[in-house]
Amino acid sequence: MNSINRRSVLLAGLGVAGAGALAACSGSGEGSGSAPGLVQPSGAAVAAAEKKRAGTGRVHRPTLTAAPATLDLGAGVMARSWAFSGRTPGTELRVSVGDTVAAELSNQLPDRTATSIHWHGIALRNDMDGVPPVTQTAVRAGANHTYRFIADAPGTYFFHPHVGVQLDRGLYAPLIVEDPKEPLSYDDEWVVVLDDWVDGVTGTPDQVFAEVKRGMDGMHMGGSGGMSMKFMLMGAESEMLGGDAGDVNYPHHLINGRVPADPAVYRGKPGKRVRLRIINAGGDTAYRVALGGHKLTITHTDGFPVEHQRVDALLIGMGERYDVLVTLADGVFPLVALAEGKDAAGLALIRTGSGAAPKATVRPRELNGAIVAASRLRAADEVRLPSKKADRVHRVELTGGMAKYNWAINGKAFDMHDPTAAPIMVEEGSRVRLDFVNSTEMWHPMHLHGHTYQLGNAGPRKDTAIVLPKQRLSVYFDADNPGQWMLHCHNAYHGEAGMMALVAYRA
Ligand code: C2O
Ligand code: CU
Repeated sequence: MNSINRRSVLLAGLGVAGAGALAACSGSGEGSGSAPGLVQPSGAAVAAAEKKRAGTGRVHRPTLTAAPATLDLGAGVMARSWAFSGRTPGTELRVSVGDTVAAELSNQLPDRTATSIHWHGIALRNDMDGVPPVTQTAVRAGANHTYRFIADAPGTYFFHPHVGVQLDRGLYAPLIVEDPKEPLSYDDEWVVVLDDWVDGVTGTPDQVFAEVKRGMDGMHMGGSGGMSMKFMLMGAESEMLGGDAGDVNYPHHLINGRVPADPAVYRGKPGKRVRLRIINAGGDTAYRVALGGHKLTITHTDGFPVEHQRVDALLIGMGERYDVLVTLADGVFPLVALAEGKDAAGLALIRTGSGAAPKATVRPRELNGAIVAASRLRAADEVRLPSKKADRVHRVELTGGMAKYNWAINGKAFDMHDPTAAPIMVEEGSRVRLDFVNSTEMWHPMHLHGHTYQLGNAGPRKDTAIVLPKQRLSVYFDADNPGQWMLHCHNAYHGEAGMMALVAYRA
């Protein structure tokens, strides 16, 4: 069957799964990554890179069942969504450096929806990266698939599907890689997952995408369907994000799966040092995070250590992670994740003493205190890239806009049906510089798979970085993980609209 026929046959069977299942149209076998001249995801170079990863031999075998679930978000809010094993966030996966993850994904999603799991931030073997049709064929409904890889860098990561806008369902969970020689000293830790929530409340992410995709131009056409704006958010403004903060109006903002009226609570003792591992699993919302009555000491971003910085609040885009240390005071304190520019927030509580909980709408003054942008952080000495001239420079222009919802890279919307059409080529062993040039009116959290780049000459090592409108940002990485890797905006809707590219190693 040629690809056009195959696509139309599959589309006919997709029904309501819509855009979320389009990636299922890959051919059989190893996905469509078999373009000549490129390192293949299942090729020898990938196996050789995996061989070099020091393993402990210890194997973790979680089963991750992706299935419909009715989620209790607190305060009487019930959401019919999709989740891993019935909970959002899914059960945290915690391993030690060098351990092998052998996770079995069981796809129990409805309506013939294909799925996958992407291990966000982990520099793993390319064929386990979970990007159909590039690194694997999508896992069909009713099927199982095992992801097996060594996690060889400690830090705070998470995982989610890489098909359509499934990222904006409840299908995500933290992945923590512990360091047995952890250099930080702290008494306890708490994983804090932020998420903007729509699914099963006002609609589904596929409905959101269908609406925003019509673009703002579509809103003014009038006539049937022209004016309906159920999900699109107008006028979300943030100075810190350089203007337009987001496209989507979410009815709820969750911390660890709870609404502010019935928040998650961490209980500890005054004087204790706690490491918070903060993950933004949202689809279209940056959060400004602060803990009332406390300073935060930033120790890591995107899993990698930075020179410590004391701040009042931090700004975290979709796909980013921050680890902070706090020394707990005595009382009850709000941990607030302000939906930047959206006039809404998520809430959790830290309780070390007696006292009444703050109101759900509390806004600690730290939110307006000192914030350090990621570009002002510095990589810790042990993870700073040795200085070296870039062997190759790629200009990655972020293009498109809200009017036509034509988000793209270098003016070309990525086509998941033909992913190797125009790859960004790199050579194994080279130092690569990517120049993000944001020509759009919006900020974009740009995520690279399989690598942790460095911002500038001495900035933090990250895999997801905010690029402000009309700004440019240069990032560097060593091409040491052969394969075919996505580079994209981690706004679920921008990425799906086409703000993606493929970074491919030359064979
Ligand atoms: Cu978290 Cu390509 O994604
Ligand atoms: Cu974007």
